[in-house]
Amino acid sequence: MKGELKELKFTVNGEAYELKVKPKTLLVDLLRKELKLTGTKQGCLTSACGACTVIIDGKAVKSCSILALQANGHEVTTIEGVADGDKLHPIQEAFIEHGAVECGFCTPGRVMSAKALLDENPTPTREEIREVMQSNLCADEGYVKYIEAVEIAAKKMQGGS
Ligand code: FES
Repeated sequence: MKGELKELKFTVNGEAYELKVKPKTLLVDLLRKELKLTGTKQGCLTSACGACTVIIDGKAVKSCSILALQANGHEVTTIEGVADGDKLHPIQEAFIEHGAVECGFCTPGRVMSAKALLDENPTPTREEIREVMQSNLCADEGYVKYIEAVEIAAKKMQGGS
């Protein structure tokens, strides 16, 4: 039946949810409008800018490119789930300390892309970081700083300063 609500069970930032959603609801809309997790940004809605990047089961995913129902049974992490209470994640620290924030709109998506990368590959090459960061567009000029910040974060996560 048209407009019928479907059941969605998933976890977001470690919290279990059971919701009824419209089949065509995008994951980005569910996160921002229903769950009020507005740290995930909405830019292009065409899978181009990366502002909406979240992590699903360890992989960076553009949340405007999938339906909320496709997250059924999966673990979603948004930018709100990255810090440990008041303690920022090393990637967040590195972005701030290295001034890799520019206007800040694309920053949450970049942090999520970087986290997915470093969780899977703790010692990426500059080229691997560049490749991942290219999936997050920025109108500002701090592109190199993002790459350097991810390198710093990788060292921090391995116990370096
Ligand atoms: S809003 Fe999803 S990629 Fe731009």
